[in-house]
Amino acid sequence: MGTSPLKAMTAPNQPFDLPPRPRRLRRTAALRRLAAETRLTRDDLIQPLFVCPGQAVRREVASMPGIFNLSVDQLVDEAKAVRDLGIPGIILFGIPEAKDPEGTQSRSPDGIIQRALAALRDEVGDELVLIADTCLCEYTDHGHCGHATESGEIDNDRSLEMLAETAVSQARAGADIVAPSAMMDGQVRAIRSALDAAGFTQTAILAYSAKQASALYGPFREAAQGAPQFGDRKSYQMNPANAREAVREARLDVAEGADAVMVKPALANGDLIRAIREEVDVPVAAYSVSGEYAMVKAAAAKGWIDGDAAALEILLGIKRAGADMILTYFAKELAAQRRI
Ligand code: PBG
Ligand code: ZN
Repeated sequence: MGTSPLKAMTAPNQPFDLPPRPRRLRRTAALRRLAAETRLTRDDLIQPLFVCPGQAVRREVASMPGIFNLSVDQLVDEAKAVRDLGIPGIILFGIPEAKDPEGTQSRSPDGIIQRALAALRDEVGDELVLIADTCLCEYTDHGHCGHATESGEIDNDRSLEMLAETAVSQARAGADIVAPSAMMDGQVRAIRSALDAAGFTQTAILAYSAKQASALYGPFREAAQGAPQFGDRKSYQMNPANAREAVREARLDVAEGADAVMVKPALANGDLIRAIREEVDVPVAAYSVSGEYAMVKAAAAKGWIDGDAAALEILLGIKRAGADMILTYFAKELAAQRRI
């Protein structure tokens, strides 16, 4: 004892001189649980699901092991499993039967998403929050998120009408929340006005506010078959270099009527999550995207990392950064394994 270097610093009557011992609260698993500042629970999570045409289709996405293209019947089963695990919400992406220049299947009353939402509403009622991704890229033959002009530009204001119609048709089919992800200026205002005019005043908007032009969407584009056929998305998605602009986008979306805002991708953008959390008073969601999932899965498959532990650590960090909700492909798997 007399040899401890800490001992020399200890003076019983001067508590301010006591050496700090942060390890005291790390000694046992129970102590660590009690002292945890951040807690990740199933209640934080939203599971993304991909719905495709057909019957009894359950096709695994090659770059996303454990994630499937599901026909409506299979989707209903998957959604019930998610609900039974206590995860509160799912976000749906549709793979349509046919694509065209205007992406008309995004807003057709019998489109894939509309049929999926109606079936889910019937089968799970209000036990699961149904979020519909509101975009055009899976439905346009050119793969862009809005109207493409002949010169290949994406026309902002012509896209707004298409997005607003899509959101209304999703609300009509049973979506609790629509999540516009096209990054068109004014999309939240256009959608809010259209929803209200159609009587869907209770349908909420989760705005993809700070959505970056990211290399981490690659596996998603395989899963949803929505890669741009020319150019890229950099004229509408955000430059990952910009933090002040991300906060501004979130502020604008709240002013336009967003009920919640989103940062995407999540993994490299803890600073944006934190800055936006401090700036706005609506819930902040973070999307841990397909590339984040694929990286963990690929390294785990090679035996290079413990995939489950890495996933938990990443999601915990996203929550600690300030996310109130996390969209993650790991949700169902972690809950099923009782890791959360
Ligand atoms: C469509 C959309 C994309 C994602 C969500 N909605 C792809 C893109 O913008 O290219 C990405 C999700 C993921 O990678 O998990 N606008
Ligand atoms: Zn899109």
